[in-house]
Amino acid sequence: TIDDCKLIEIDQIGDRRGHISVVENNREVPFEVKRVYYLYDVPSGEERGGHAHKELQQLIVAVSGSFDIVVDDGTKKETFSLNRPNKGLYFPAGLWREINNFSSGAICLVLASHTYDENDYIRGYQDFISYKQR
Ligand code: TYD
Repeated sequence: TIDDCKLIEIDQIGDRRGHISVVENNREVPFEVKRVYYLYDVPSGEERGGHAHKELQQLIVAVSGSFDIVVDDGTKKETFSLNRPNKGLYFPAGLWREINNFSSGAICLVLASHTYDENDYIRGYQDFISYKQR
């Protein structure tokens, strides 16, 4: 459910010269990272996401700029705003998500528990609802 979705504060190491934030397997994220990808050049007003995953877990970070993630577990919805590089959203499997409200220059970094597999996607909202009721 949505309650398994958690905002994670990632430590900031640094001083006036700037900051470093670190994500390590099974520490800041409760899984082994097998893939990293990032969304960028998203035109203002565009929406991404619009799917669910059967197995994939993710940590989503706004490494630059900001955006909102609307999470939907089939029963209720919650919006998480990501706007700092030291804040991540842990995203378990089995939730529908939409990502919108991208600021200009936003970069959405995703750390994922599996390599790319189209069969892990649920791309239709009605399919998602049936999947949750199975
Ligand atoms: P998709 O996950 O649907 O994007 P979003 O949820 O951000 O809107 O992926 C968009 C396209 O990119 C789709 O054709 C699949 C491809 N893709 C890969 O080939 N490998 C990947 O690791 C990812 C995330 C996407």
